[in-house]
Amino acid sequence: MAQQEDIFKKVVSHCKEYGFVFPSSEIYDGLGAVYDYGQNGVELKNNIKQYWWQYMVLLHENIVGLDSAIFMHPTIWKASGHVDAFNDPLIDNRDSKKRYRADVLIEEQIAKYEDKIEKEVAKARKRFGDSFDEAQYRATSARVLEEQAKRDALEKRYQEVMNAEGGIDLEGMKQIILDEEIVCPISGTRNWTDVRQFNLMFKTEMGAAAEGASTIYLRPETAQGIFVNYLNVQKTGRMKIPFGIAQIGKAFRNEIVARQFIFRMREFEQMEMQFFVKPGTELEWFKTWKERRMAWHQALGFGAENYRFHDHDKLAHYANAATDVEFRMPFGFKEVEGIHSRTNFDLSQHAKYSSKKIEYFDPEENTSYTPYVIETSIGVDRMFLSVICHSYDEEKLEDGQTRTVLHLPAALAPVKLAVFPLTKKDGLPEKAREIIDDLKFHFNCKYEEKDQIGKRYRRQDAIGTPFCVTVDAQTLEDNTVTLRYRDTMEQKRVAIADLRGIIEDQVSIPSLLKNLK
Ligand code: GAP
Repeated sequence: MAQQEDIFKKVVSHCKEYGFVFPSSEIYDGLGAVYDYGQNGVELKNNIKQYWWQYMVLLHENIVGLDSAIFMHPTIWKASGHVDAFNDPLIDNRDSKKRYRADVLIEEQIAKYEDKIEKEVAKARKRFGDSFDEAQYRATSARVLEEQAKRDALEKRYQEVMNAEGGIDLEGMKQIILDEEIVCPISGTRNWTDVRQFNLMFKTEMGAAAEGASTIYLRPETAQGIFVNYLNVQKTGRMKIPFGIAQIGKAFRNEIVARQFIFRMREFEQMEMQFFVKPGTELEWFKTWKERRMAWHQALGFGAENYRFHDHDKLAHYANAATDVEFRMPFGFKEVEGIHSRTNFDLSQHAKYSSKKIEYFDPEENTSYTPYVIETSIGVDRMFLSVICHSYDEEKLEDGQTRTVLHLPAALAPVKLAVFPLTKKDGLPEKAREIIDDLKFHFNCKYEEKDQIGKRYRRQDAIGTPFCVTVDAQTLEDNTVTLRYRDTMEQKRVAIADLRGIIEDQVSIPSLLKNLK
């Protein structure tokens, strides 16, 4: 685990050093949980978005795109339930004046019990060696059983307060924190305030500052922009159910516990798709979308063992099925995408609050109904994090040296081809530029002439460039170059005329989409 945490730290500093992700407003000491994407980060992020967009909108005849505004009528957030219920339970420590999410403090306490169990098991494994029977040890060790009982009792209490009738039991949460003797990590004391609900939406004002200005919210999800445009798209696009609307855009949440780099941010980006279906068919579609989304993730080639579903037992009152796609990050399996069967809740709420009829006339059944919705919702930044964490590698080479390389899927890599003149003279730079001028219309190329070739390779490895070519004296004679592959470091002599044919197919988004067949 410690080793994984080290890797995560290295990934974070690698992202900064190689122009992927910078802390926002860094020269002013940063802004909490807000990040900027640098010259390589923005390319990788755009490629991830393209991979999603092309899969959703180009490959599905019955899905169309949308780009709705971030600012929306404030009643939308009343109708959606965000004004009343998009809250986190918070608690303050009076001595450190630090604020925490009460649910996170309790979850961390549960994780502490789990850690103790794992440490006991690891010690025993070491002690007994090959003869160790782990299942039996877990079932019989007094220490393990004691910690497991504490963990299970806490989990049970936690679930009870989280799912209490009429909403989260805030007093019950505080009592757990006191009973478990949870201390503030800063002050080390148990001097806690009561637990209060805190709304996560950012507010601003539209119009003149004094009278007449109305409070509006920065959207906490892109989905509501889709719901309120359902009729516009369905009618103007003459869409027949089942059909979907896909959108990529920024979302904002005033997260209190904002940690783990770009995993939990205050300004982030979502890729959401609402799929409108006939009532009664939604659970079949939910299953279909689970399969399709998992296939999309796995087509990146990161290994099926790094993904899992986390099906929700407790559902929001408007949902009749929900699952998360989790990916193995260096800090454990974490949610990257949510797939929800949201019934007709959102459309019905907007019909009620806007007093507009929001229905679909089914010509086959000669009847009207409010469509049910399957939602797929994935965070671009979390996807970015999973891609970069999985791709980061410190590889030991035969000569004893280590190279840091990003084994990015070639279609997602920021730069596809780097072209190096062996030296800065004898017409080699001009020849290298000629190659780039020809290929830059087809994929992202980069020219590099500084330092020895070995160093240039390392710099490209560090940003995940799948192909490099070197132009040398022989190139001027026979129009061939040395092509070097990032992952195998294999080098071979190829004709300049063949470069496009060799590279283009492998670096295009369709090359990934074809894995989905
Ligand atoms: N419309 C449904 C919705 O917004 P969600 O589970 O709250 O559902 C969907 O968010 C996805 O958005 C998550 O799976 C995650 O990838 C991303 N996401 C949510 N909050 C985030 C945050 N604070 N920072 C980065 N990504 C976030």
